[in-house]
Amino acid sequence: MYRILILVSCFALMCTSVATALEILYPGEKTYINRSEALVIKAGQGIDGLVLEIGGESSDLIDISGEQYRAIFKDMLILQPEFDPGKNRIKVRGYQQGEKVAETEVNFFLRTDQLAPPPDGYKRFVMHVPEKEAVCAGCHEMNPTEAAISHPSARLNPCTTCHRGMLRPEWSHGPAGAFECGSCHELQNDKGKFRERKIHADLCTECHQDIVDAYLKEEFVHGPVEAGLCNTCHDSHATPHKGQLVAEVNELCLGCHEHIDDDVHVGRGVTGRPHPLSGPKNPRRPGEKFSCVSCHNPHGGKGRGYFVGGVQGRFSLCQECHQK
Ligand code: HEC
Ligand code: HEC
Ligand code: HEC
Ligand code: HEC
Ligand code: HEC
Ligand code: HEC
Ligand code: HEC
Ligand code: HEC
Repeated sequence: MYRILILVSCFALMCTSVATALEILYPGEKTYINRSEALVIKAGQGIDGLVLEIGGESSDLIDISGEQYRAIFKDMLILQPEFDPGKNRIKVRGYQQGEKVAETEVNFFLRTDQLAPPPDGYKRFVMHVPEKEAVCAGCHEMNPTEAAISHPSARLNPCTTCHRGMLRPEWSHGPAGAFECGSCHELQNDKGKFRERKIHADLCTECHQDIVDAYLKEEFVHGPVEAGLCNTCHDSHATPHKGQLVAEVNELCLGCHEHIDDDVHVGRGVTGRPHPLSGPKNPRRPGEKFSCVSCHNPHGGKGRGYFVGGVQGRFSLCQECHQK
């Protein structure tokens, strides 16, 4: 009699914990991610509303009980949030007819500085493994054909149904902007499912051989270019910066050349003011902003400073913008 009672109450407990299970599927606990693209939550059947707490601020109650909503998303909630760079904590509370029935949280790291090492204690989130994909497979095509992954329609390409956020920024890279994921990604390779075939110059040369050859032929080649590390500066997909740069030009350069001091770089003029290193206009190339690459070619050049215009010394550089 006693045994049965325990069994029954355990069973009841299990039932409620199954019914009101609440899980944050993406991002994962103690993982780091590279973009603020999605927040994917799975709510148990009993839950009809959710409240999110991001960065200490709570949302209103999000109603997920609507018939139309359920028909499309069932018990999933997929949002496009804006996480802060660095550490983030998200709490989710599940409600059933106005009463809180479940709560969960996730701690993760948004890594916006690709040049800095990943934070200690956080692992890269890995999505395309069978156990995680199984949850999505009911609604998303997780085993597409090779042809499908280069389908030119954002709606029909099986990769862009989830990844179109990463293609939204203004400057997109030719083949990625055309949804030809298959030109660089494979269905399966030794790195894993859907992973890129190669990275850096080994990949870039497949389509930009002439350009890479030209860079390497310069008398002085910029360190990271010589090492073939194209992806340290260029994203393969899309970014808000021209040339799909991973950061705004000066920020990118200063990431490795921290010692450049605005006050003394290039020297001071008769007015005593330091030379600008950024500004709204580049006199050499009207229509472009003034930045480090107004004077330095990012890939290499004829002199040690990789100056633009093929000039070698600093005095001929000045004349590129300042007539005598
Ligand atoms: C019950 C159905 C369902 C399940 C299960 C599901 N999704 Fe979705 N998901 C959708 C629908 C519907 C859309 C919207 C598709 C569209 O607009 O083309 C979507 C869109 C998305 C988006 C894109 C959001 C945007 O607009 O940028 C992401 C990311 C996403 N899902 C991730 C996932 C992940 C990861 C899983 C598995 C853990 C998953 N989904 C499981 C139905 C589902
Ligand atoms: C159900 C939604 C969904 C679909 C469909 C999907 N992905 Fe993903 N994918 C994700 C999420 C979420 C991540 C984790 C994103 C992150 O943190 O960068 C991810 C990560 C990746 C990664 C990084 C490695 C990994 O496993 O985490 C690659 C590469 C990738 N996706 C390529 C693709 C390609 C190519 C396709 C089309 C064949 C595709 N994905 C389809 C949701 C999806
Ligand atoms: C020009 C080659 C190229 C094309 C085209 C391309 N990718 Fe990638 N992709 C890469 C490389 C290289 C990486 C590895 C990035 C790295 O480590 O810097 C990558 C990584 C990814 C990742 C992991 C993201 C991350 O932050 O680590 C996802 C997701 C992804 N690609 C999705 C896609 C989708 C979806 C498409 C099609 C719309 C696509 N890619 C088209 C080259 C490409
Ligand atoms: C599958 C072929 C393919 C691969 C691989 C590829 N690209 Fe491209 N890339 C293109 C196409 C197509 C364009 C757009 C054509 C154009 O504007 O010249 C382009 C344009 C660019 C641009 C913009 C050019 C401009 O004038 O603004 C940059 C930068 C670039 N690619 C860098 C890279 C880097 C870095 C890699 C290696 C990580 C790479 N590409 C790999 C096909 C490719
Ligand atoms: C140190 C950072 C850095 C590295 C490494 C780098 N690039 Fe660039 N790249 C830039 C910047 C910055 C621009 C934009 C120049 C501008 O706006 O004038 C650029 C522009 C480009 C362009 C546009 C056309 C042009 O020449 O201006 C292409 C194509 C390109 N890079 C390809 C590559 C390839 C391929 C590699 C690897 C062999 C590579 N880059 C490595 C910073 C870099
Ligand atoms: C990933 C790190 C990295 C980034 C990003 C980077 N550089 Fe460099 N840079 C280097 C390395 C490494 C060297 C070689 C250092 C040496 O040999 O003294 C170098 C050398 C240089 C030199 C020549 C220094 C000398 O003493 O001759 C100049 C000029 C330069 N970089 C400018 C830039 C500009 C402009 C940018 C932004 C477009 C940039 N760098 C971005 C790593 C980087
Ligand atoms: C107005 C032109 C101009 C601009 C803008 C400019 N530089 Fe320079 N840079 C120079 C000159 C001139 C030298 C000195 C070269 C010499 O005398 O050999 C130099 C030298 C360098 C060197 C090698 C010497 C050193 O101090 O390490 C680096 C690295 C460098 N610049 C990076 C940058 C970065 C990063 C930016 C943007 C924040 C930038 N430069 C903006 C003109 C410029
Ligand atoms: C790529 C174009 C470019 C190059 C190359 C360049 N400058 Fe400049 N320079 C500028 C711009 C832009 C300004 C700001 C003009 C303004 O504010 O009206 C400026 C301003 C100046 C000033 C005035 C500073 C002040 O406000 O008092 C002096 C002096 C000067 N530059 C000297 C030099 C010298 C010396 C060199 C060569 C080492 C050089 N510049 C190379 C673009 C350039």
